[in-house]
Amino acid sequence: MFDKSNSQPETGPFFARDRSWHPPAYTPGYKTSVLRSPQRALLSLGSTLSEITGPVFGHAMIGELDNDLIHNFARPGESAIGERIIVHGRVLDERGRAVPNVLVEFWQANAGGRYRHKKETYLAAIDPNFGGCGRTITDADGAYAFRTIRPGAYPWPNGVNDWRPAHIHFSIFGHGFVQRLITQMYFEGDPMIWKCPIVNAIPDRSAIEQLIAPMDWGNTVPMDSRAYKFDIVLRGRRSTLFENRREGN
Ligand SMILES: [Fe+2]
Repeated sequence: MFDKSNSQPETGPFFARDRSWHPPAYTPGYKTSVLRSPQRALLSLGSTLSEITGPVFGHAMIGELDNDLIHNFARPGESAIGERIIVHGRVLDERGRAVPNVLVEFWQANAGGRYRHKKETYLAAIDPNFGGCGRTITDADGAYAFRTIRPGAYPWPNGVNDWRPAHIHFSIFGHGFVQRLITQMYFEGDPMIWKCPIVNAIPDRSAIEQLIAPMDWGNTVPMDSRAYKFDIVLRGRRSTLFENRREGN
């Protein structure tokens, strides 16, 4: 991902990868990682042309309600149940420069902690007016924003009594299929964060803290929504932790 409008060559200091930033692939406290983690040495495969050059996103592909999860699956005149919030931030590179024209996708459970998915088994009720996914494209300043409801925490089959803290999943899509990064955002002040085995698989406390969005009082809309700010840094010392890519691989 790079800013095409910036024709100046990179001359800044090299940002070395921090290989301890991401959790080890094998983290038994997070039970699924036992079977998912590679058992043999990794192989490096070259990218194909189609992986490097596509896809290309245009702003025209984004629908009017794609960044409004309160309404994008709701019946006309109705809205999703839950605490109304705005989530916004910027996608930045390791030098703090904006990364424009990036497809940002997000998905989450409803206010009761239930996903609308055929394999979902949690007993919390489905909200017929909430689909739980949306998308937007960053503007020239690398900024994105969407409306949603605050998701609920939910239990998951891992240990005897494990719960996911309230969270929103994010996908950041660059200019090619091999440039997709996945992460999760948590909410400031949630005590559930520190009890989650997935969160606790991350060895560095500051990496966890960068996944926690602070409440943004300044952008609260009176009588409507509170705001949370979540900046996403693609690489470098301030990099957001991406769960699908271990730095150095
Ligand atoms: Fe989730």
